[in-house]
Amino acid sequence: GAPLRLGLIGFGCVGQGLYDILQKLPDVGFEVRRIAVKNPTKLRPLPADRFEFHADDLLDDPELDVLVEVIDDPNEAFRLVSRALRQGRNVVTANKAMVARHLPELIRLQREFGGTLLYEAAVCGSIPVIRTLDSYFGQEPLPSVSGIFNGSSNYVLTGMTTAGADYATVLAEAQAQGFAETDPALDMAAFDPRSKAVILAAHAYGLLLNPDQVLNLGIESISSTDIRFAAERGQKIKVVATLQRLSDGSAAVFVAPQFVGDDSPLYHVEREFNGVVVEAEFAGQHFWRGRGAGGHPTGSAVLADLVALRNGFRYAYPKLNTATVPEPAADLEVEI
Ligand code: HSE
Repeated sequence: GAPLRLGLIGFGCVGQGLYDILQKLPDVGFEVRRIAVKNPTKLRPLPADRFEFHADDLLDDPELDVLVEVIDDPNEAFRLVSRALRQGRNVVTANKAMVARHLPELIRLQREFGGTLLYEAAVCGSIPVIRTLDSYFGQEPLPSVSGIFNGSSNYVLTGMTTAGADYATVLAEAQAQGFAETDPALDMAAFDPRSKAVILAAHAYGLLLNPDQVLNLGIESISSTDIRFAAERGQKIKVVATLQRLSDGSAAVFVAPQFVGDDSPLYHVEREFNGVVVEAEFAGQHFWRGRGAGGHPTGSAVLADLVALRNGFRYAYPKLNTATVPEPAADLEVEI
């Protein structure tokens, strides 16, 4: 059939990564028809006439089959995505903070207006964790889901371990590499991996959590001495996101630095890589290691969502009682 026509909102790291992948795969069946960006004056790798400045115009264009939202600002992202879903449109997003904050409302809007929202790229970039939890392990009790969900802080910890360098020096290096958030506190104080843990809690345990109520401890107070202490015991310090099943079937969810020994697969997840460990009651342990950030890895997850959409896929939220999805709070403008 004819290629699906995409409206791309945002042309930063992820948007450019997706665009480049689609250029390299001309037969994959998607065409970037329109691109909306915020700043008209920024220098970009495509001719200026490829860009426009009103994302809402894309939402109103009936010729676009799918909207791809890959902007930074979670409040603007929610405004656009919720508006698109209210029009019954199909949307792919990579915005973890937005999805974590607004998931109940996003689920409700899909139910009410019939559109589909997919967001594999929002959690651990190229690692196919959301769809696997949702579709593959949907019927299976999961004793735990855990992992390293933030590449930037793991990069800093790795740097402090191997080079013996201090926190500030390695942080500057991580920022220069380009996988850090615009506000590095989101990475270093573990707000970013907390958003990812909240999203996985919905698919793995059917929990819709308020991110503010999930503990997030990052690496700001970890010193080279702490890391040497761990090393002398044959361990590393890692910021581990933990989802741990409780006896009533719900789960405890938190993100915090932990001592990790080489009996854990997370011990070997270094630099900007992410790692996810799933403990399933019948399947046993699964482990993925992969790239959680960067244009191509994250763009590849967006492409996977586009293909899934074309095949009619939608999340089942198999453990969630969707009849009881809570109504949204009256005031949706929140600090993320
Ligand atoms: N800042 C994030 C990270 C990017 O460092 O993992 C991917 O969400």
